[in-house]
Amino acid sequence: MANQAARTVSVPIFQQSKYFMSIELSVDTLARTESIAQESAILVGVYLEGEGKNTSPLAELAGLAEAAGVHEVGRITQRRQKPEGATYIGSGKLAELKELIDATDADIVVFDNNLAPSQTKNLEQELKVKVIDRTELILDIFASRAQTLEARLAVELAQLEYAMPRLKRMWTHLERQAVGGVGLRGPGEKQLEVDRRLAQKRILDLKSELRQIQNRRQREVAARKQSRTLSLVGYTNAGKSTLLNRLTDSDVYVKDQLFATLDTRTRRWSLPGWGPVLISDTVGFIKNLPHHLVASFRATLEEANQADLLLHVADASSAEVHEQIAAVYEVLTDLGIREKDTLLVLNKTDALESPDALAVLLERYPNVVPISAKSGFGLDVLSARVSEALSKEFLDLTITFPIGNGRLEAMLAREGEVLSSKYDETSTVIHCRLPQHVVGQLRREKDASIEGLPAEKGDGWLD
Ligand code: GTP
Repeated sequence: MANQAARTVSVPIFQQSKYFMSIELSVDTLARTESIAQESAILVGVYLEGEGKNTSPLAELAGLAEAAGVHEVGRITQRRQKPEGATYIGSGKLAELKELIDATDADIVVFDNNLAPSQTKNLEQELKVKVIDRTELILDIFASRAQTLEARLAVELAQLEYAMPRLKRMWTHLERQAVGGVGLRGPGEKQLEVDRRLAQKRILDLKSELRQIQNRRQREVAARKQSRTLSLVGYTNAGKSTLLNRLTDSDVYVKDQLFATLDTRTRRWSLPGWGPVLISDTVGFIKNLPHHLVASFRATLEEANQADLLLHVADASSAEVHEQIAAVYEVLTDLGIREKDTLLVLNKTDALESPDALAVLLERYPNVVPISAKSGFGLDVLSARVSEALSKEFLDLTITFPIGNGRLEAMLAREGEVLSSKYDETSTVIHCRLPQHVVGQLRREKDASIEGLPAEKGDGWLD
């Protein structure tokens, strides 16, 4: 809730109508006071060459609208070579859209595209209803879902950065009002300047707060590095939380809803044949994810950034599975974590229409692990593949050394995974997994005998 005392400036960012958020800009307060929930909407998609090829191109936007609590009353799509400069949609379709608004009494029009500020302004003037684009819709959903301080700050930053170039729109709106109003022009102009400065300051403060959170998070995640870590990434609604619950016997919130989860949760998974590993669920991705949002959620995605292995969960039953997989790789590239070891996991195979559909997917993604987080199918194979991937850079060794060499014992515990320790009167025997890069150091231990080491170059009898 807005802090009354801090209500120094109250600005409806876009328009003064009830739509979207009106924010209260003060040094430490920015609250959305309105959302688009409950409004009736017409969905519009303009698809350029190569886009929206599937049979129901507006299906995802409809899911997003539903997640925002909007009531859909109509749809219009158009295919074009390129967007119409002023209104994105062509003039014929614009007239059709106007008629549909009249016929359905819609409150808002939601575009599946990202609109320039001037295009939104022109469309609103023409249609006389609110117009929002895909980014605004996603921001609205994120704003209503953010639970933790970190997620709230990240969303607030993304909203403000999105709003900055659009503040002018509010000003032109006030200017129009001033024609009939008394003395609005002066205060409006001054207010806009004040708002700009306050918004800029708030953006700087938020960035600095998020940087601090990210630094702290980096240290926390690094401190957990004694255990191997996995991170679940994937398109929204792919089933990441369901898989996390299934593997770790926990009860993370699961809902058939886009962006049910915004925060990262970490759980312990007893990986069969390996031992405990840490596994984190992260925010779902979506195609054309607003880049402000990706940047703001960097701290939340720190787990993925530092993970030993990414499990990329995809929804095999979605008609857009290929596009969704590509969109996730795009976001990972944006975040600079594309190069990480990644295991592609095709979830919801139970919901596939036929075994043939799975065969087609396997042909396209030969290294994929097909599973059903719901029924448990394929989880044994998934465990084995994860174990194998984690073992890649590890050696399974048994090291015997004289009792009392605490330094070596501590080094093994620090650098590797100790599976068992045995002590007798004179010696210590440690069975552990050790990363390859530590082996050189181990070979220099004169009084340790090591079982399981690969032959060093030059050891072979033929040399
Ligand atoms: P976000 O929080 O949006 O990122 O979603 P998520 O990837 O965490 O998905 P979540 O686990 O919330 O699951 C989304 C929906 O898919 C829920 O209705 C689940 O019950 C359903 N679901 C998950 N796994 C399976 C599966 O293996 N088969 C089927 N049929 N449905 C599944």
